Amino acid sequence: MGRIAVFASGAGSNFDAIERAIANGTLEAELVLVVCDRPSAEVIKKAEHAGIDVFQFAPKSYPDKQAFEKDIVQQLEQRHVDLVVLAGYMRLIGSTLLESYEGKIINIHPSLLPAFPGKDAIGQAIDAGVKVSGVTVHYVDEGMDTGPIIAQEAIVIQDTDSYDEVKKRIQSVEHTLYPQVISHVLKGALST
Ligand code: GRF
Repeated sequence: MGRIAVFASGAGSNFDAIERAIANGTLEAELVLVVCDRPSAEVIKKAEHAGIDVFQFAPKSYPDKQAFEKDIVQQLEQRHVDLVVLAGYMRLIGSTLLESYEGKIINIHPSLLPAFPGKDAIGQAIDAGVKVSGVTVHYVDEGMDTGPIIAQEAIVIQDTDSYDEVKKRIQSVEHTLYPQVISHVLKGALST
């Protein structure tokens, strides 16, 4: 069974969806670690409640990215992690992690990339007046939301939609799509 680590900085609704999919058997995987760079993040409580190991760290207490990523790699290696799953981890992945987990880090982004990379993709889409947006799951490289695309799903934006309505629709897609894609990627990753 594939062993995954979820990296998150915020509310952790994708963490919940992944955890649920594992619990109900639709995702055959073991969630062995949550990595979090914000000690106040809600996802930490959720992970602890679920009995999952958490590695939380304060980036500012390290001299640089290389230093904290070395610690993260050690945590991942100790637990024999097969796949790193970014779920609202608000930080670019650096060369230390990328080199150790080449081709084994994926991310979910709330737009149809390459449109609207970076922060507040939902707000960017609404401001641009697009009628269709969606969700992208992609492999992670050194860029901001730039790695090879694995899967995408679209949603329609109505003129009358509020930000919260669009966000709700996007998140509902994310919560179904991400566990499916993780399952797919794990099968490929494990067969090599
Ligand atoms: C999601 O919308 C994801 O696409 C983006 O960050 C958000 C994380 O939300 N990368 P949550 O913490 O999983 O609720």
